[in-house]
Amino acid sequence: MSNNLINIKIPKYNLNYQIDNKKNIIESSLDKNVKLAYSCKSGICGTCKAKIISGELNKNNKINHILSESEKENNIVLLCQATAKSDEIVLEPLSPLPRKVEKSIVREFISEVLSIKEINNNTMELDISVPKRFVYENKRNNYVEVLIPGKKINEKYYIFGECEENNINNGTVKIIINKSEDLEVRKYIEANLIHGETITIKGPFQENIPEIPYNKPLLFLVENNYIINSLNLIKNLILMKIDVPIMLISGFTSKTEIILLDEMHKLQFLYNNFSYKITLLNNKDSNNINRFHFGKTTNIINKVFPDLSSHYIFIYGENKFIEENYNKVIELGAIKNNINKL
Ligand code: FES
Repeated sequence: MSNNLINIKIPKYNLNYQIDNKKNIIESSLDKNVKLAYSCKSGICGTCKAKIISGELNKNNKINHILSESEKENNIVLLCQATAKSDEIVLEPLSPLPRKVEKSIVREFISEVLSIKEINNNTMELDISVPKRFVYENKRNNYVEVLIPGKKINEKYYIFGECEENNINNGTVKIIINKSEDLEVRKYIEANLIHGETITIKGPFQENIPEIPYNKPLLFLVENNYIINSLNLIKNLILMKIDVPIMLISGFTSKTEIILLDEMHKLQFLYNNFSYKITLLNNKDSNNINRFHFGKTTNIINKVFPDLSSHYIFIYGENKFIEENYNKVIELGAIKNNINKL
């Protein structure tokens, strides 16, 4: 073997390229702009299974347990857990190569306002048209900026994606506008826009989702409008087939402030590993609470999880919310390195 370079051949897709043998086959192929099928990259989902037709690999046998005995006997491996050993490897991925996704390019687009919905007193939802060239990846956090003539505005409006694997672009995107803050965009939209009008957006900008361990149950503690981002992240994790229990506890001030209940319900209905609880701060709502909890999120965490030592926890909210919830989860045994705050 010379220079650590390995020949990879995938006859089924007419691919022949060289990779470095230091990284696993998925990563080293990505370095060469070859995207093989993968999802979790952690040996959990099995998306990267491939049959080795010839050549030898170093396999991470500790993380090969999702392979059955007969798969192992038939030279099936997890490409995300294997590095190349011989100078040439011929293989055949079991999942088809992913559809080539055009790299998203940030551009300015004229969009038509398709619908404006008041979700509650503080929030409105805007559906706007986007052209085919507007390409965004469901597995990352995507946002746009709204351009207002003569103003420099850098507010981020996260695209609220649909939870469908191939829904790259169906011609519309949904963004949520918070009306309670003194935002230029909100004022502009309220003053100028009705259905059929146009606005200029710039995007899609993309943010990577946080690196998390894929073997720990996830707990999200989220306040009010931070639910928008949190639900996007949860959808991303579900799309990545992260098969661990995901619990969302979201705290709203009152019933009228609740947003995206429909999205939480849909996710819980569709995916067995997701569940949510809502807690309301406002006393007045306590009379007819039947399905919601009452009080701060900190009051109910321990009722759901008396011990958080094996969880990975996200806390998203204002500073006071973060501080209170951080202290609470630490009290319940959470490991500091396993807490992600926003
Ligand atoms: S990508 Fe290899 S097992 Fe999930």
